Amino acid sequence: MQHRSPIINVMTSAARKASRRLLRDFGEVENLQVSKKGPADFVSNADIKAEETLRRELEKARPDFGFLLEEGGIVEGKDKDNRWIIDPLDGTLNFLHGIPHFSISIAHECRGRLLAGIIYDPVRDEMFMAERGIGAFVNDRRLRVSARNKLDEAVLATGIPFLGRKHHPATLNMLESVMTNTAGIRRFGSAALDLAYVAAGRYEGFWESDLKPWDIAAGLVIVMEAGGLVTELTGGPDILATGNVLATNDVLHEPITKLLRTAIKENKNSPS
Ligand code: IPD
Ligand code: CA
Ligand code: CA
Repeated sequence: MQHRSPIINVMTSAARKASRRLLRDFGEVENLQVSKKGPADFVSNADIKAEETLRRELEKARPDFGFLLEEGGIVEGKDKDNRWIIDPLDGTLNFLHGIPHFSISIAHECRGRLLAGIIYDPVRDEMFMAERGIGAFVNDRRLRVSARNKLDEAVLATGIPFLGRKHHPATLNMLESVMTNTAGIRRFGSAALDLAYVAAGRYEGFWESDLKPWDIAAGLVIVMEAGGLVTELTGGPDILATGNVLATNDVLHEPITKLLRTAIKENKNSPS
């Protein structure tokens, strides 16, 4: 972004600050892989520390804003219109296993409307950011969703529900439907970065169900500002409320929705 607005500057500098310690902790986690106890407690501490840094930095800049924090929940601000929606570490399982693919996600919401978002990948030093009406960027480069318009050339990413999550049979149906019609499916493990990658044109689409607002709020703004489309899996508008998201480039939204819709119809207990 050539001339960043004050709000984007506030968000990016908070993310950079939190990322320094996160990266140091990630180095430590790589060492802890071989220890018997494993790095689980250490990682949950790293997560909490990152959230504390983000909250402190954002409060310094905008003392009255509220928060929706993954770890800390809802924090009411004096200003009832504006709040930050934050995931301090998206891709925790990757982090825990020493896999260098995770991110920090911050969105600015005003009166229930998402106005800006940043997603920072500290390992690659990629700062994805967008503001309504201004466009989406990664570092200084403008983002645009991919121009691929053929399903059989499309790469899609998804999230696969794990132990304790719902919708395992529906996910298998959707995977079958998408894998038999596209060039390939990826599962990288950070929903925020998945959305950023759709915006960057690295893949044509991403879908996942049962996500939380902090997983997707920033990414939704970034995809929209990069010219992409975001809906529920079958096309509905209530993404944040349902946690079901399909983000695609502009041309493949309809065919991909059709694939998911067919898969979902075959399974009564599916997400929408
Ligand atoms: C998770 C990641 C993952 C997605 C999960 C999320 P976390 O967030 O975004 O890609 O599949 O559904 O919960 O727990 O790493 O912050
Ligand atoms: Ca998350
Ligand atoms: Ca998280």
